[in-house]
Amino acid sequence: MATMTQWALLVVCASCCGALLSAMPAAASSVLAAQDAGVQQPRGNRSLRGGAAAQPPPAPTYVYAWAGPKDPSLGGKDSLFVISLAGKEYGKVVTVVPTPYAGLEPHHCSLSVDRRTLACGGLFAALANGPGILFFNVSSNPRAPTLIDPATVTQPRFGAFVDEFVPTPDGGFLVTLMGSPTGGSPGRIARYNAARQLVGEYPDPAKFPDAVTLPSFNPHGMGVSWGHKIALSVDYLEPASTLNGQVIQKRSTLRLWNTSNWSAIMETIDGSGAEGHINGPMDAVAIGDTGTFLFGGGNGYIYYLDGRGPATPHSPKLVWDLLGGAMDRTSYGCILYSFRNGTRLLASAFVRDMVQLLDTTNPLKPKLLDTLQMPKGAGGHVVRLSADESMGAVTTYFLDEGAVGQVHFEGDMTVRLFKLNAKATKITINKPVKSVLDFKKKMGAQGAFRPHGVAFY
Ligand SMILES: *[C@@H]1O[C@H](CO)[C@@H](O)[C@H](O)[C@H]1NC(C)=O
Ligand SMILES: *[C@@H]1O[C@H](CO)[C@@H](O)[C@H](O)[C@H]1NC(C)=O
Ligand SMILES: *[C@@H]1O[C@H](CO)[C@@H](O)[C@H](O)[C@H]1NC(C)=O
Ligand SMILES: *[C@@H]1O[C@H](CO)[C@@H](O)[C@H](O)[C@H]1NC(C)=O
Ligand SMILES: *[C@@H]1O[C@H](CO)[C@@H](O)[C@H](O)[C@H]1NC(C)=O
Repeated sequence: MATMTQWALLVVCASCCGALLSAMPAAASSVLAAQDAGVQQPRGNRSLRGGAAAQPPPAPTYVYAWAGPKDPSLGGKDSLFVISLAGKEYGKVVTVVPTPYAGLEPHHCSLSVDRRTLACGGLFAALANGPGILFFNVSSNPRAPTLIDPATVTQPRFGAFVDEFVPTPDGGFLVTLMGSPTGGSPGRIARYNAARQLVGEYPDPAKFPDAVTLPSFNPHGMGVSWGHKIALSVDYLEPASTLNGQVIQKRSTLRLWNTSNWSAIMETIDGSGAEGHINGPMDAVAIGDTGTFLFGGGNGYIYYLDGRGPATPHSPKLVWDLLGGAMDRTSYGCILYSFRNGTRLLASAFVRDMVQLLDTTNPLKPKLLDTLQMPKGAGGHVVRLSADESMGAVTTYFLDEGAVGQVHFEGDMTVRLFKLNAKATKITINKPVKSVLDFKKKMGAQGAFRPHGVAFY
């Protein structure tokens, strides 16, 4: 185990910002074409927004990017950037909302289902003595969000190292916390309600207090099927093990949850023996609201898991190779976005500087539709779509731990905007120059910023 001193050093030295991301809810209902009769639901009828008949999703107006300064000694703070999508402003940063902090390592961010709150996470907040979970008020003026006083936000006690946010139907969030407060194990999953109050940390810390009762629990990615009351979280790695001199502890466990009762994990699946050997799975998404999921295995493969029915146990199936059959299975930074109706998937591969668009109408046999290929060295990490799924954004900064850690994947520190054609079979870039936002240059004398999290308004 790395010590706290090492961690403190890491914060001081690296003081970077990473960002993760949060998935838009694999929202409403929707027909997942596919194989499963019996799970079909009327398309767009059951909205996550409180069960009323769904409104057509709004066209996007802004993109939020959550980034921190590469070198805070130049005066920059971890900040929320507001990018306009309107007319002549397209691709322009119209507002920068600095927080009082630097060194939180800005990671993922996500808009609540009620569109009132933007949640942002700081991966290394525990080391920077700052809040790991920040909320911005976007309810009245999405162009100029305000930071909700962090003193009014209760931080989790049992978990830290904030990764992904999953918006909940009530307007709150589930948050994956990859490590303990000192970067060890276990981590937790926290839940906030729409009033941004901490509701709980799971599984129940009283019953599962430590790494003996809860081994290898370092959750990063998570998908939820609210209709089927099943969630899948995947364990990525132990944060402190990424320091120099440590052996990186990647995980291969998958957890199924019953969303009616988060106090205990419903089922733990060991993926190490699965075809391709799951090793450090980072992200997981629900396929529509079907009780089935896709997740990246940390090995360049994408897996399918059907979480329904009694444990047999449930077993993952390898369904796609992001690396096209390459012998070198080096893979990191694979983030997924599943379309609302489950028939499309976006998958980023940092190692290949790309985002793939897949047809997952039959999730057991994905088909490649198109690839957003970025320049060599760009990276490619968090990828998100607008609520109407007409356009997307990908960030290219993953994480750089500086001199004390083993993770050095800085990418080219950009946010790249793209569009999709009506049938979502092609990725297009209408305004190529305005669609690449270079965060190395946005803040002048404050130097380069590192965008990780991105969310559409
Ligand atoms: C859609 O939902 C409404 C209530 O939310 C319900 O009355 C209606 O029957 C549903 N429509 C279909 C086709 O299921
Ligand atoms: C968000 O901003 C609106 C408009 O300024 C305000 O009415 C509301 O109280 C704010 N909410 C919070 C939680 O600060
Ligand atoms: C989920 O939990 C609820 C409430 O405890 C229970 O009624 C239900 O049977 C559970 N579902 C499964 C699949 O275990
Ligand atoms: C939730 O699950 C825990 C552990 O399995 C159990 O002790 C508890 O009674 C359950 N609570 C409800 C409300 O079902
Ligand atoms: C699902 O969404 C895709 C992409 O927007 C669309 O082309 C397709 O027609 C939709 N399918 C169903 C069954 O709704």
